[in-house]
Amino acid sequence: MKNTLIAPSVLAADFANLQRDIEMINKSEADWFHIDIMDGVFVPNISFGMPVLGAITKHAKKTIDVHLMIVDPDRYISTFKKLGADILTVHYEACTHLHRSLQAIKAEGMKAGVAINPHTNVSLLEDTINDIDLVCIMSVNPGFGGQSFIENTYKKVKQLKEIITRNGANTLIEIDGGVTNQNAKQLADAGADVLVAGSYVFGANDPIATIANLKEISK
Ligand code: DX5
Ligand code: ZN
Repeated sequence: MKNTLIAPSVLAADFANLQRDIEMINKSEADWFHIDIMDGVFVPNISFGMPVLGAITKHAKKTIDVHLMIVDPDRYISTFKKLGADILTVHYEACTHLHRSLQAIKAEGMKAGVAINPHTNVSLLEDTINDIDLVCIMSVNPGFGGQSFIENTYKKVKQLKEIITRNGANTLIEIDGGVTNQNAKQLADAGADVLVAGSYVFGANDPIATIANLKEISK
């Protein structure tokens, strides 16, 4: 039985009741907080920035998993460390010198993640896999919550798992976008270690029970 980690995405929280929603995650069986930072350039949306992240990390009592959907993320690596990020994920498509970015994140004492868009083949990570703590496979096009899951993701998870095993890496596989009780089990069985869920959790009548259910079915 595996311990698949559940990471509710704060993007789908009620921003006028953010502290209440953070305390809900603290109380729940969720493992991580997933925080989406969008710049309106890399993705066609702007979420929230540094002051809000700082306010979240003051109350959040679990691992802070920050997903940067921004161009040129190197500029802000030390800032995100100061704001409380434990894991900092940059996009493969946004990094000209990905290897250098990964080293810079680790030098700050954070775990280094790489997110890949639906069109990006996992084989492109073959040469950096031993330097990556987490690969975030986007199962929707990044920028918005509430989109439908792209079925091709299962194949990507299996291919990535194979690359990780072949290279003897310890990389975690995270899935981000459209995760529900309909695909959680199949994703975990394919090799996913972390499931991000936004609208499915926060749109539920009982988010705590929904998180517990995701945790249970993805064992
Ligand atoms: C999308 C974000 C996701 C999003 C997931 O760009 O990276 O983390 O919040 O939301 P749902 O679970 O609603 O697809
Ligand atoms: Zn995300």
